[in-house]
Order: sequence, then structure tokens, then C-alpha cells
Amino acid sequence: MIEADCLSKHYGRLAAVDQVSFKVAKGEVLGFLGPNGAGKSTTMRMLTGFLVPSQGSARIGGYDSIKQPMKSKALVGYLPEGAPGYGEMTVHEFLSFIAAVRGLKRNERIKHIAQVVEQLQLEAVLYQTLETLSKGFRRRVGLAQAILHDPQVLILDEPTDGLDPNQKHEVRLLIQKLAQSNKAIVISTHILEEVEALCSRALIIAQGRIVADDTPQGLQQRSRYHNAISLISPDYHAIAEAIRELPKVVDVEILAQKSQVTIVPEKGALILDDVEAWLREHAWSITSIYRETGRLDDVFRQITAGVRT
Ligand SMILES: Nc1ncnc2c1ncn2[C@@H]1O[C@H](COP(=O)(O)OP(=O)(O)O)[C@@H](O)[C@H]1O
Ligand SMILES: [Mg+2]
Repeated sequence: MIEADCLSKHYGRLAAVDQVSFKVAKGEVLGFLGPNGAGKSTTMRMLTGFLVPSQGSARIGGYDSIKQPMKSKALVGYLPEGAPGYGEMTVHEFLSFIAAVRGLKRNERIKHIAQVVEQLQLEAVLYQTLETLSKGFRRRVGLAQAILHDPQVLILDEPTDGLDPNQKHEVRLLIQKLAQSNKAIVISTHILEEVEALCSRALIIAQGRIVADDTPQGLQQRSRYHNAISLISPDYHAIAEAIRELPKVVDVEILAQKSQVTIVPEKGALILDDVEAWLREHAWSITSIYRETGRLDDVFRQITAGVRT
């Protein structure tokens, strides 16, 4: 449904986006993950046909975003970075305007508007002008206009930016539901839990380039904490000192605020059974113990740090 083929965008000598290629199928949620200035928004603008690429091309449902803009745009719902415009319109006027632009018939307009107003909980602000809305509401109005015509493709630039934790949760549930209805979705985020919660695949982007293309699980496996054992114990300090003697342990870290010890194994080693046997043998008292899946923030830092020039 979405294809980027060697997309590049140059601003003077800066390659904001550099030879980016990927595909997204129906039912997939692709996450763009990257530090500020990585080129996420620029890539999304080119996908949606709002920015002409310096090189390469983008296709939506097989239609070129620049050469066939009417056909490609009709398939896409787009939430741009920041808040959408027309500050003097009320939420209801704005959604009615978008519905008309999207070519929905009168009875469809009423139905679709009622549906997004409910999905994004906009009842309370329906007759308020956009410029008077809080950042969270403005973001939700932006999402409402993106999904209004029930598009097959959604391009959402930081959809949960500026929302409080409850609103973030609601919007994530909504995106999960949209993905289940067989849409192809791209979201950008710098929030790692969001990738774990939402995405079937993640592209890590740094300085305009794709530096990793993997599932969230695949990325976690690259972490040095993949299969590490973390335990909490009143004796955490003594345990941390003594457990270094165990085979296949390469490092032991302490997090004093949580009375936590993390035991990092050799790459590929599974040490939970050995650690538990060792703890029993030495009769340490343990509050909790678990095997880590891996830490995305650690992988993210490791991958993006190597790219800096
Ligand atoms: N219109 C523009 N003119 C010049 N530089 C730009 C323009 N738009 C974006 N950039 C630069 O391109 C890079 C990528 O920006 P952007 O795509 O907004 O990153 P992200 O969304 O990942 O934070 C940044 O260095 C930014 O300053
Ligand atoms: Mg951005």
C-alpha cells in the first residue's frame, strides 16, 4: 500500500532524507523512530505528496504521490506535525469542511463526523474554535480529520505528541483498532514504548538514513540486556558482588534506588536456571526475579550514536 523508492530530500548541502526505501502492506504498522532532525517528518511529507522529493519516488496504493496526486491523496489520511490550521473555525466547522473536501455525501458526512467525534472524544469542544483548544484537543482534532474518510493508508506524524498519559493510551488503542481493520499505517515517534505497543516493524532513522529495519522483538534482541536477569533483593549489594563468579556472566549492574541487580549474560547465553540455582544454594532472599526481553532505549542509543559525524 505504501512504497518509498530511494526517497531523498536535499536542502542545500544537507541531506534531510537520504535514499530511503521501504514498503508497508495492509495490516502493518510501521514505526519511524529517530532523534529530532532525523528526517521523519520530511519523509512523511514526501509520502503524502506535500513535498517534492529531490530524488526517488513514493507510491500510495500504486499511485505516484507527485504524478498522480488526486488518486494517491484520496487513499491517505495524514496527520502533519504540529497542529492543523484554520484557527477561527470551530471543531464542527473544520470537520465539516474536511468532509466536504474529501467528497463525502451529506448523509455520509454526518455519519462520519459523529463517528470520529465519538472515537476521539471531541463532544465537549465541538463548538469551540480551534485556536482556543488545548494542545491535546488540537492533536485529537488533527487525528479526527485524518481518519474522517476512513482511508486505507494512514500517515501519522507523532500522533501522541502533547497528550497526557490517559489520552496517549486512548490514541494507541485507536491506532491498534485501525490496524486491525487492515489499514497500512506509518507513525513517527521518539517514544520507544510506543513502538513496542503499536508497531509490527520499526525503521530507525538517523541523519536521513535508515540505520535499522526490524521488528520490535528483533531490535530488543540486539540489546545487551536481551535475556539479562534482573532481581530485586534487600541483599542486592552483596549479591552483585558475589554473582560475578558465575560462568557466562559478563557484567553485573546495580540500580540502588530499586534495590535491583541486573546480570548481563554472554551474547546468546541463557542463565536464568543457573542464577536461580546459585541463589538457592547461597540462600539469598529475593523479592522478585525476571528475564529481560531487551531494552530498546539501549539499542536506539547504540545504533544512532554510531551514525553521528
Ligand atoms: N524546509 C526546510 N529547509 C531546510 N532544512 C529543513 C527544512 N525542513 C527540514 N529541514 C531539516 O531537515 C532535517 C530533518 O527534519 P525533519 O524531517 O523535520 O526531522 P524529524 O521529523 O525527524 O525531527 C533537519 O535537520 C531539519 O532542520
Ligand atoms: Mg518531525
